[in-house]
Amino acid sequence: MQTTPSREPRTAILALTAFLAILVILSPSPAAAQGGPPNWPPELKNLQIFSPDTPPAELIDKMKGFTAALGVRCQFCHVGEEGQPIFTFDFASDEKPEKEAARLMLRMVQSINEDHLSKLEGDEPVLEVQCITCHRGTAHPEQLHDLLVRVATTDGANAAVAKYAELRERHYGGQSYDFAEQTLVRAAGMLAVKGDVETASSLIQLNLEHFPESAMTFGALAQLRQLQGDNEAAIVALKKVLELEPENGRVQAMLQELQELQKAQEIEQMEGSEEESGEPKR
Ligand code: HEC
Ligand code: HEC
Repeated sequence: MQTTPSREPRTAILALTAFLAILVILSPSPAAAQGGPPNWPPELKNLQIFSPDTPPAELIDKMKGFTAALGVRCQFCHVGEEGQPIFTFDFASDEKPEKEAARLMLRMVQSINEDHLSKLEGDEPVLEVQCITCHRGTAHPEQLHDLLVRVATTDGANAAVAKYAELRERHYGGQSYDFAEQTLVRAAGMLAVKGDVETASSLIQLNLEHFPESAMTFGALAQLRQLQGDNEAAIVALKKVLELEPENGRVQAMLQELQELQKAQEIEQMEGSEEESGEPKR
């Protein structure tokens, strides 16, 4: 059954074309900023991965893809200075180890796509692995929780808290780092396992500043307080979880268990102090 095409799809296509044009105009373009194609090297001398007769436009596209995927400028891999015209760059030079790393990465990506993904049974893979798949706009594609644990372990809790603030300021809303509720909880869990409950607590407090109603964060807080031997604070945190998630059976059970433990300990202490003060036992 064929219907006459309505106006909407065409309008939508026009809108999309305009939108894409704007995207192209607004995209940061380091090559253009540094002189662009008019100053492109007259001959390409040192292509080992791409074909030596790759058209300039195609090579520029690939290079711009690198800068966007890694969140860097051309001189991250090439010999040249920020702000200087592009013809002063020595693109053919292999002096920078980052360029060699990029070649290694190119071979890796090629192998992932051609030797592995293409061998999946069934449909063509929906996704082709690209630099951005892992790098997500950073040169070091480290996940935020790993990064924070690393900083905390080498430079301490305050440095990790400061790092989180700095990265959040710069990258929030982008794809480089995951600033969702679970990241700091995860980092705190990793630190607690390493025995650094203090730093873990700092990260949990930080998470509560950003997610004051996060049940999972109060759950983690309860566990940390218990590890610190502060059952009373653990009970307060668990009650907060139940305020947020009244139906959470596991937390109900944990709370009950902890309250019973707490009672037993209180009785033990009372008996202990009675013994010490020499008063008769009941
Ligand atoms: C992540 C690293 C990286 C970044 C960033 C990068 N390039 Fe490259 N570039 C390479 C690698 C690797 C090659 C060599 C590719 C090969 O061996 O086939 C190359 C080759 C080139 C060449 C060819 C040089 C020759 O004569 O052989 C030019 C020109 C070039 N890049 C320009 C640029 C420009 C302009 C930018 C910024 C928009 C840029 N590149 C950003 C890694 C990078
Ligand atoms: C499968 C994931 C993955 C893909 C895909 C990937 N990379 Fe990487 N890349 C990494 C990891 C992991 C590192 C090591 C980061 C570190 O040591 O901090 C790295 C490191 C690098 C480095 C060295 C950074 C430095 O500071 O020394 C460069 C340059 C680089 N990648 C470029 C690329 C380019 C260009 C592409 C696309 C052709 C690409 N990568 C695709 C995971 C990936």
